[in-house]
Amino acid sequence: LNLSLIGAPVETGASQPGCLMGPDALRTAGIIDVLRGLGYGVRDHGNARAAPGNGATHANTAIRNLGETIAWSRALGDMGYRAAAEGELPVFLGGDHSISMGSVPAVTRHAAEQGREQFVLWLDAHPDFHTLDTTESGNLHGTPVAYVTGQPGFEDHFPPLHATVDPRNVCLFGIRSVDEFERENLTRNGVSVHDMRAIDEHGVPSLLNAFLERVRAADGRLHVSLDVDFLDPTIAPAVGTTVPGGATFREAHLVMEMLHDSGLVTSLDVVELNPFLDERGRTAKLMVDLVASLFGKRVMDRPTRSY
Ligand code: ARG
Ligand code: MN
Ligand code: MN
Ligand code: MN
Repeated sequence: LNLSLIGAPVETGASQPGCLMGPDALRTAGIIDVLRGLGYGVRDHGNARAAPGNGATHANTAIRNLGETIAWSRALGDMGYRAAAEGELPVFLGGDHSISMGSVPAVTRHAAEQGREQFVLWLDAHPDFHTLDTTESGNLHGTPVAYVTGQPGFEDHFPPLHATVDPRNVCLFGIRSVDEFERENLTRNGVSVHDMRAIDEHGVPSLLNAFLERVRAADGRLHVSLDVDFLDPTIAPAVGTTVPGGATFREAHLVMEMLHDSGLVTSLDVVELNPFLDERGRTAKLMVDLVASLFGKRVMDRPTRSY
């Protein structure tokens, strides 16, 4: 299996600068050698570039960097689609979470062409379910789940979607900071939300297995979007939007190892790493470790148990 690394040096969707350096920090932390060491062919496409922003504006004047973020969505959508269509497994190295406005449409388009259903596992403190009309911060990294599931208002601005993700095929995991509009609209759209309360009560395995079983039953393709703030800030400080009470080291590795054992993952985003906020590279190294677990690094030479 070949992995296609696509650097997405994007920070136009975030509130503070720094995510621009994310792809290079992940490379510096050794992501390529780690993946090669696990036996994969790795093609590093380098860092993508986008056309200049077209100065697009919106009635919601809080929105920042709209034209630039649209340009990134288009560039990453094209690159990601080509990688997926060539049969490679795209790994998008962010960049803030607005890169998923390119990565998810790219893989969803490919899935639709294969007659396959697209599923998305969103590992994050936040649902990122704002529309252009409802975002109050104006930070577009808070909007990708709404865009890719076809919520209204994006169509006049962002690239048209070849296929949308059914909101019921989205599983938000690790959630602990939800805005009022998001809360109501997530329920209305039937998005699965496993907040930290659910993880505390039921544990990672039962919640994640139930979702993976749905993906398997549908013969679906599975995109995983890993936001640094899924993790507890004490172990992952390099993110602009820390929220206390996140996933522990052990919970996060368990998620990754279960994803590997499932054999279902067909694409990945690693997002929101802000190296400017890191401590001697520890968050970058942890993200690379988690990616290694997702691609098969384990303690023993076999799964602890079969799922
Ligand atoms: N809901 C908040 C907002 O819209 C936070 C979004 C954080 N998103 C992220 N990808 N870190 O501003
Ligand atoms: Mn996010
Ligand atoms: Mn987040
Ligand atoms: Mn509009």
